[in-house]
Amino acid sequence: MASISPDTAASVGVGPAPAVKKPKLHGRAFYESIGSPKYIVAPMVDQSEFAWRMLSRSFFPESERSKILAYSPMFHARMFRESDVYRDEHFQPTRPGSDVPWLDGNPAFDRPFFVQFCANDPDHLLAAAKIVQPYCDAVDLNLGCPQNIAKKGRYGSFLQEDQELIFKLINTLHENLDIPVTAKIRILDTKEATLKYAQNVLRAGASILTVHGRRREQKGHLTGLADWEMIRYLRDNLPPDTVIFANGNILQHEDIQKCLEVTGADGVMSAEGNLSNPGIFAPPPPIGQEPRGYWRGKNGLEGWRVDEVYRRYLDIIYEHVRGVEPPKRRPLFVPGDDTEWLKEEIIIPGQGPNDVRPNKKRNDVRRENPEILTANYVGMQPHLFHLLRHMVSRHHDVRDALAKTRLGELDAYEAICRLVEKKVAEGLLEYERTDGKSIEQDMPAALAEGESEDDESSAQTVRECWRPWWVVQPIVRPLPKEALAKGSIQLSKKEKKRLAAEMADGEKEDVEKTIKKLKEENGVAAPALATTAVTEALDEQTNGQSSAVASG
Ligand SMILES: Cc1cc2nc3c(=O)[nH]c(=O)nc-3n(C[C@H](O)[C@H](O)[C@H](O)COP(=O)(O)O)c2cc1C
Repeated sequence: MASISPDTAASVGVGPAPAVKKPKLHGRAFYESIGSPKYIVAPMVDQSEFAWRMLSRSFFPESERSKILAYSPMFHARMFRESDVYRDEHFQPTRPGSDVPWLDGNPAFDRPFFVQFCANDPDHLLAAAKIVQPYCDAVDLNLGCPQNIAKKGRYGSFLQEDQELIFKLINTLHENLDIPVTAKIRILDTKEATLKYAQNVLRAGASILTVHGRRREQKGHLTGLADWEMIRYLRDNLPPDTVIFANGNILQHEDIQKCLEVTGADGVMSAEGNLSNPGIFAPPPPIGQEPRGYWRGKNGLEGWRVDEVYRRYLDIIYEHVRGVEPPKRRPLFVPGDDTEWLKEEIIIPGQGPNDVRPNKKRNDVRRENPEILTANYVGMQPHLFHLLRHMVSRHHDVRDALAKTRLGELDAYEAICRLVEKKVAEGLLEYERTDGKSIEQDMPAALAEGESEDDESSAQTVRECWRPWWVVQPIVRPLPKEALAKGSIQLSKKEKKRLAAEMADGEKEDVEKTIKKLKEENGVAAPALATTAVTEALDEQTNGQSSAVASG
């Protein structure tokens, strides 16, 4: 979308004029109108861009792809409104200089699609939302971001204490947009406070409520488990027609159904699980009908192969983003195929000993080739590192080659794909040759007879999720209690300082005491910001003026 003026966009609406303006639906009627999706690709900064959303959908047959609802990465509302450069780098709904649908929100393949913003000013939020409304099904407000940058910028979860502002932000969109508004929150310390928070969001006009079952303090080493019971409590205490998405603890496909059952939510959102395995939402192919890219080994070990996922991802970049045919490749290798090609030497373009590639400043790249500074190219290297995480810890040549790629170098990415295919082929052949024994030394240790597991250990999860390195699989974080207790993670000086800084005003508790408390309380951070501040803000909002504006 080449440089539309935000004011023009906001006033006239850009892009293809809808032939007939659809009536604006709300809540469950809206949810049903987009096909009642159960599977939701989470909003992820720099990671839920168009190509990734397409990849996540690609594991369903074409006729079922609308089963997945995908969110854009979070955009900063003020910057989105004010900066052409920011907008063009992050959002490309139409071909440059035209109204022809292109990538983001393309009605032919990128729907249902919600665009997420962070904001603390209703005017900025509305102006930004009006720019995107022709290209998406709803606009979402991020109320969950716990990062320091959100604290500094006062958005995401750092609005929790200002329920009145939250109401205004959501209500402004509810009253003034042509499409519905939705919101994503984190839970608070108590069920009661979380319920009031949710009620405020819904009263303001949110059509769908996404609940990330972790508190603001649960991030980084202290992420821990999401609280599904809290989401269940909301389900049971909010009006029954409320549309709720549950978020947190989804590592494998099986977890989705468990989460739906425990929480009673309408849909399940996944971020980290989806990044590790973009096929997480789709059921595995039936036994005996595996395509070449799906591996089934012994003892129930199975999954999508890294080379399959890599190829699919690259194909989306070629086809949609660069607009060229993907190169012709041999069928993905399976044992029994010809192995002559394994002898070929793989040269990574631009990475030979005589290749000199001067470092370029971002502004130079922007001048010479602005296309490659866009979200779909920027996301490639981090996505591939995530997908190949288990593989690159063993195959350092793949890691090094990936680390050396530059933005937009599709030739290099293609050559690395061949390198990955070769390693996978060798791994599979070795597995066959040793009758499965080649992976035994990498497997997590089983419980010894008579040994029982601490309920709060992640060891069982590690065992359940473990796959050979040629299969995409989740990264299991140690639980905070476990990691702190074992001393396998230490809070750094910076983290200790951060904890101290995050304490509520006037609560100058000793940092060491807080850390001790963390260890005692399941390793989960004690509420660092006063719960009372949130509760008071909620009380004010729910008991006071909210009813006056509830009609909006
Ligand atoms: C790389 C990454 C980027 C994220 N960016 C966003 C974001 O832009 N907006 C948002 O609401 N949450 C963001 N999150 C949080 C996720 O949407 C989600 O709430 C959280 O990771 C918990 O889900 P999970 O347990 O499935 O990972 C991000 C998470 C990750 C891992």
